[in-house]
Amino acid sequence: MADDNFDVLVIGSGPGGYVAAIRAAQLGLNTACVESRETLGGTCLNVGCIPSKALLHASELFEEASHGAFAKFGIDIQGATLNLDQMHAEKAKAVKELTGGIEFLFKKNKVTWLKGRGEFVDAHTVKVGEQTVTAKNIVIATGSSVTPLPGVEIDQAVVVDSTGALALPKVPEHLVVIGGGVIGLELGSVWKRLGAKVTVVEYLDQILPGFDGEVRRESAKLFKKQGFELKTSTKVTGVTVQGGKASVQVEPAAGGEGETLQADAVLVAIGRKPNIDGLNLEAAGVKLTERGQVAIDHDFRTNIDGIWAIGDVAPGLMLAHKAEDEGIAVAENIAGQTGIVNHDVIPSVVYTTPEIAGVGLTEEAAKERGDVKVGKFPMMANSRAKTNRDTDGFVKVIADAKTDRVLGVWVVASLAGTMIAEAAIAMEFGATSEDIAYTCHAHPTHAEALKEAAMAVTGKPIHI
Ligand code: FAD
Ligand code: NAI
Repeated sequence: MADDNFDVLVIGSGPGGYVAAIRAAQLGLNTACVESRETLGGTCLNVGCIPSKALLHASELFEEASHGAFAKFGIDIQGATLNLDQMHAEKAKAVKELTGGIEFLFKKNKVTWLKGRGEFVDAHTVKVGEQTVTAKNIVIATGSSVTPLPGVEIDQAVVVDSTGALALPKVPEHLVVIGGGVIGLELGSVWKRLGAKVTVVEYLDQILPGFDGEVRRESAKLFKKQGFELKTSTKVTGVTVQGGKASVQVEPAAGGEGETLQADAVLVAIGRKPNIDGLNLEAAGVKLTERGQVAIDHDFRTNIDGIWAIGDVAPGLMLAHKAEDEGIAVAENIAGQTGIVNHDVIPSVVYTTPEIAGVGLTEEAAKERGDVKVGKFPMMANSRAKTNRDTDGFVKVIADAKTDRVLGVWVVASLAGTMIAEAAIAMEFGATSEDIAYTCHAHPTHAEALKEAAMAVTGKPIHI
C-alpha cells in the first residue's frame, strides 16, 4: 500500500474534473485525478453531450434523407434505410476517440489517473480501492446522476434513463418521455426522427423550465408541428411493465380523471442529482446545501480548508461548459491566481431542430429587476435562413431600458447554438444593444438576425 502525495487530487474526470486536473498540472502542481469509470471524460463524453449529439446529428441526416427534405433542392434520394447498429457504432467511435483524447492529454500534462472510486478518509486523505493518497488540495468533481421517479423502476430495457435511451437496440413504436426538459426533448427528437411516435409527459404547464417564456411557447408549437404529443400539466402516477411493453398511468397534475398510455419504451428524464453517495463527505466535514449539492463560496471553496467543489455536484446550471470553466478557475485559485467564472453569462443550448439557446436573463426575470426594452427579429426575415429554407424561430434581445446594456439573448433557429456564442461574448464585455446593432455582421449569415434584433431594441430594424 503506497502513500502518494499530491498538490491536487481531483475526484471525477468529467468536464469539470479533467479540465481542473490539466490546468493544475499546467500551473506546475503535482496532480492526480480519481475516476471509477473505464474511460475518462465523465457523463458528458461517455453518456451525455457527445453520444447524444452523435445521435442527434445522425438521426437528422436520416430524417432528411428519408423524408424527401432534399428533393426541393433537386436532390432525389430514394429508399434511404436505417442501419441502427451502424449509427450506434459511429456514436461509440466518436466517444472512444474523445475519451481517449483526454487520456492522451493526461499523459501529455503528467496528470496521474488513479483508477477506482474515491472515498474521503479525512480532509486531506482519500482512499481509492486499496490505495490511500494524501493531497494538499482536493477538488470534488463527481458530477450528477439521474433523479429517480419514485415508484418507477428503471430496467434499461423498457424503462430507461438517458443512458439507456442512447443505446436502444431498436426504434420503439411509441416512446413515452417523462419530463419535457432538455434530455426529454433532445432524445425524444432522436427517436422521433428515426420513426417513433413520441409523447412527452410534463408536470408543469410548459416544457423547458428555466428558458424564456416566449421561447418555451414557440418551442412547444414547433415540437407539436413536428408531430410530438406534448402532455403538459400532467403527472405520471405509475408505470407497469409486462411482456416487454409498458403501461404508463397519467393524470392531470391538478388531479382528475387519468388515462393509461401504452408504450414500447419509457424515458425517465426529470432532472439530475449531485453525486455525493459513497464519498464519505462526513469524514472530511464537508457541508451540503439543502438541495444536497456540495456547498461552496464564490471561489469554489467548501467549508473545509483545502477542499473545493465544481461542476454538477456544486450549485448552478448542470452544463459541461460551466463545469469546464469552473475547472480552470478552481485550479487557478489553488495555484494562488484569481480564477473567475461569470455565472450570469453561461449559455444554454438545446440541440433539437431548430436549436434553442439563451444566455443571461429571461424577459420575465429581467422585468422583475426593472424596466427593459425588447427587440425581436424573426428568422423568416433573415436572408440566409430563407435561402436555406430553415426559417423557424426568432432572435430576441432584452436590454436595460435606461442603460441599454444587454441583459439576455434568446434564439430559436437552426444554428442557435452557434449564434449564442456571439451574444455571450458581447454580454461578457458589457455590450449595449447599440454595440451589437453597430457591429458589422457578415452577409448572408444567420447571425445577422442578432444584429437586427439588437436594432429592433430601439425600433430600427431594416428587414422587417
Ligand atoms: P460528470 O461529467 O458527471 O463527471 C463526473 C465523473 O466523476 C464521472 O465520470 C463519475 O464516474 C466520476 N465519479 C463520481 N463519483 C466518483 C468517485 N467517488 N470516485 C471516482 N470517480 C467518481 N451539457 C452540456 O453542456 N451540453 C450538452 O449537450 C449536454 N448533453 C447532455 C446529454 C445527456 C444525455 C446528459 C445526461 C447530460 C448532458 N449534459 C450536457 C450535461 C453534462 O454532461 C454535465 O453538465 C457535465 O458532464 C458535468 O460535468 P462534471 O465534471 O461536473 O461531472
Ligand atoms: P430538466 O431539468 O431539463 O427537465 C426535467 C423536466 O422534468 C422539467 O421540465 C420538470 O418540470 C419535469 N418533471 C420533473 N418531475 C416530473 C414528473 N414527476 N413528471 C413529469 N415531469 C416532471 O432535466 P433533464 O432533461 O433530466 O436534464 C438534466 C440536466 O442535464 C439539465 O438540467 C441540463 O442541464 C443537462 N443537459 C443539458 C443538455 C444540453 O446542454 N444540451 C442536454 C441534456 C442534458
